[in-house]
Amino acid sequence: MRKLLIGVAAVVGLLACIPLALLATGTIDSSSLRMILNVMAGLDGPPPNAAAIEQRFKLPQGFSLQLYASDLPKARFMRFTAGGDLLLSRPHSGDIMLLRRDADGDGHPDAVETVIDGLKRPLGIDLFGGYLYIAESNRIGRATFDSATGKLTGDYVPLVEGFTDNGTHWSKTLRFGPDGQLYLAQGTTCNVCVEEDARRNTLMRFRPDGSAGKIIATGLRNSVGFDWAPWSGELYATDNGRDLLGDDFPPCELNRIEEGRFYGWPYYNGDNVPDPDMGPDPLAAEREPTAPAHGFRAHNAPLGMTFVDTSGWPPGYEHAALVALHGSWNRSTPDGYKVVSLHWTDKGIEERDFLTGFNQDGDIRGRPVDVAQGPDGAIYISDDYAGAIYRVTYGARDTAWSPPASTPAASRLDPTPPDWLAGADLPAMAERGAALYGFHGCRSCHEEGENPKLLTRLQDRLGYNAVIDVLKAPQSPMPVFPLDEAQQRELAVFLLNRPD
Ligand code: HEC
Repeated sequence: MRKLLIGVAAVVGLLACIPLALLATGTIDSSSLRMILNVMAGLDGPPPNAAAIEQRFKLPQGFSLQLYASDLPKARFMRFTAGGDLLLSRPHSGDIMLLRRDADGDGHPDAVETVIDGLKRPLGIDLFGGYLYIAESNRIGRATFDSATGKLTGDYVPLVEGFTDNGTHWSKTLRFGPDGQLYLAQGTTCNVCVEEDARRNTLMRFRPDGSAGKIIATGLRNSVGFDWAPWSGELYATDNGRDLLGDDFPPCELNRIEEGRFYGWPYYNGDNVPDPDMGPDPLAAEREPTAPAHGFRAHNAPLGMTFVDTSGWPPGYEHAALVALHGSWNRSTPDGYKVVSLHWTDKGIEERDFLTGFNQDGDIRGRPVDVAQGPDGAIYISDDYAGAIYRVTYGARDTAWSPPASTPAASRLDPTPPDWLAGADLPAMAERGAALYGFHGCRSCHEEGENPKLLTRLQDRLGYNAVIDVLKAPQSPMPVFPLDEAQQRELAVFLLNRPD
């Protein structure tokens, strides 16, 4: 009976009781209440404007903010194509949009188009092997996608079907790892309960063709965002703590995901504090809960996270990720509503404010959802309340970036340009090259460690033929990689055309 009551309270509380109760006790102001009611009713906030950006938003010194795109209700997850266009998922309208690269330099996408619609609540999106992968609430599907034109070139085909999407946390996030495998996160049906479908509240891994699905981590309540630290390859995932245990408990989490581990939900919260409603873990003899790597403040709702390439940024951002805190809906004073930076330091993980101002004394104008870094080095932040995408730039990196032309001049360093360059689909090749670069761990020697052999500005030193020669016959300690000719070309295109 107790569990049933908790379940009912959780659902009803989530939907209605809390804000009204808070209003009745006078602990929440009316604009926060309006926001909460808007969010629950699926309404959107007022669109942002230049004056609001000027007055309310704050970034660390040297960074600047611009409203990149608006009129995108319920903008959620983002992915850049190799051509520099931005893919955006909108679960509530069932579509994936494409924001065309700002080639004309007016600070906004050159066009906004629908890539595919009629989907069931799509959230997670990624590009791999020439496909656009989409996580709908009940299945994963993919379609061939041409990064040069920004269009699908084939039918959308379901790959893995039959996921459950009942209850509260129905969205699914997917992302390809540096190992070239597909990772999928699923949230719980409830606030706190035992799930019937064992795949809920886990992270799973599949082959790119959708086969060999496996649960690799359990006990995650709602890990909407995850990414791999480029310097170590470690996988980190955000997780939203449970509700109805007060304003300040439990913390939301950042977990370091290791295969086979159990991350506590629903029996433990935060640093493995037993849950007051659930009683002891019946499987306690078989599993130990893993404590979070970092705790966010309670109810901050961390969603998308991304490790950023901070070259060109000021000191202090060397090993950093940005995380969007969607913000609390059930706290007596709203909290979160900002983008924070996490810093991996000798003392552990430190959290600092990055972009604040979505909430100004309870007057809420936005809710950040996802963070992506463009090929131009700028940071893009989606906001599903204002229906907007913001763009953050730092100093010198704020330069217009152009993707490789589809038929480029051969590198001036190639005395005889290779024949295959003529007419090659360079953006698509660069994308596959980027995946190979991640897959084969090139980063471990070329970007990480004490004294990495940097490949920046490679185009000033090597031509296409020379890069392929290095890959065919590398000098020790660089190993020979099992790459066929097409893959060597793809790596060369990636290495010689990426922005430094
Ligand atoms: C075990 C470490 C290691 C790994 C892994 C590695 N490299 Fe290297 N690589 C090196 C070293 C060291 C050099 C410099 C060798 C020399 O002195 O000529 C090098 C040189 C290069 C060069 C020539 C750079 C220049 O400026 O002349 C290219 C291109 C290159 N690597 C690409 C790659 C790619 C692509 C991968 C992944 C498929 C990769 N490397 C993986 C260690 C590594």
